[in-house]
Formats: sequence, structure tokens, C-alpha cells
Amino acid sequence: MKALSIITASICLAAAVACSSQETGTQEEGNAVIENIMSRRSIRKYKPEAVARETMQTILECGINAPNGMNKQSWEVRVIDDPAVMEEIISLMCAGNPEVEPGAVKGCFRGAPTMIFIANDPSYDCSPIDCGLLSENIMLSGWSLGVGSVCLGSPIRFLNKSKEAITRLGFSEGYTPIICIGMGYPDEAPEAKPRDFSKVRFVE
Ligand SMILES: Cc1cc2nc3c(=O)[nH]c(=O)nc-3n(C[C@H](O)[C@H](O)[C@H](O)COP(=O)(O)O)c2cc1C
Repeated sequence: MKALSIITASICLAAAVACSSQETGTQEEGNAVIENIMSRRSIRKYKPEAVARETMQTILECGINAPNGMNKQSWEVRVIDDPAVMEEIISLMCAGNPEVEPGAVKGCFRGAPTMIFIANDPSYDCSPIDCGLLSENIMLSGWSLGVGSVCLGSPIRFLNKSKEAITRLGFSEGYTPIICIGMGYPDEAPEAKPRDFSKVRFVE
């Protein structure tokens, strides 16, 4: 209930900020949502403590409130914030990828103390999009609460070669891991990477 009221309060705040900026004619200045989107960066250095469970509850509620095809919610989400469980998963992944250096398997998680594993339903063609939107909601809501994140594709290559690791994560039959998100309290403040707006055009 508390998590929901925090979400509701945040949404009201964002809406109020958006409305007030529309009244004054400026859309960007002081707009909390735009500032949050534009200031987010991938974080690859974290403080050791995991994200508080109460905060994660709010972040995950935001995640599953993402738009998704036909409201099928074609995702499954698993969260690990216990280093011992994470070590177990890494060991199983190493066993499934004997040709890969164990350090490379561990390193692909970027040292994030809270790890989110997201699986998609390959029988639904929009499922990867659903999972992407879920991920973005997770990362942006996290950032608005002072939680850094990094989207991680590389663990998936190792994970999908380890049936034991997927079983330990407890995904349902038919669900396939598609992306991980590392989260934690940032211990770095990286510069923004450049974006190429020429890829975007109005069609006249
Ligand atoms: C689908 C996807 C996969 C990614 N995989 C990795 C990864 O395996 N390791 C990593 O360090 N960063 C990964 N990233 C983060 C990107 O490198 C990062 O978002 C990009 O360089 C832009 O930087 P920014 O997030 O700070 O704006 C991934 C991002 C996405 C969206």
C-alpha cells in the first residue's frame, strides 16, 4: 500500500509539474520527468549495499505498469539482492559456459548489488518490446529515487547456455531470459554519451 501511495504521489507530482510548465509555456525547464530522463546514465560502479526492498517494491510496481501488448504482461521478473544467491547463479552460468573465463561471467554483471533478470515469452512477437518498456520504467523510476542502473545484454548469452541457472531463477516453462538490469546506489557519475539526432526526422 505504501509503495502504491509513493507511486501515486510521484505521478501526481510529475503531472502537476507538467501542467504548471504548460501554463507558463515552457515544456522542459523544471519538468521533473524530462530532467529524470535526460540525466539518467548507465552506472557501472556501485556502493556495496543492495537497493532497499521497499524502494525495489516501488521500482518494480513502476516496471509492471509499463504499456504492454494487449496487457498480456508477457514478462517474468526475478530479483536477486543476496550475494550468496548471486554467486550460485554465477557458478551455474560458469558451468554452462566452460569455454568462458569465470571472471568474464562474473564481470558481465558490472558489480551491481541488486540484479534483475527479465524473461520474455517467445510465442508472442511483441514480448521483447514489452520487456524493453518494462525495463525502461524500472530504470527511470529507479533513477528518480536515486538508484542507478545498467541494462545488461551480455549475461543473457551466458545464461541461455545454462539450463540449471534458468531453473534456479524459477522462470516458467517457455519463458526465455532476454535482458538483465543491474541496480544499486551509484558510486560514479558518468558523462552523457552523445546521441545522433539525425537518425530522427519528421516526414513532410
Ligand atoms: C539492450 C542493451 C544491452 C546492453 N548491454 C550492456 C552490457 O552487456 N554491458 C554494459 O556494460 N552495458 C550494456 N548496455 C548499456 C549501454 O552500453 C548504454 O545504455 C549505452 O552505451 C548508452 O549509455 P547511457 O545508458 O549511459 O546513456 C546495454 C544497453 C541496452 C539497451
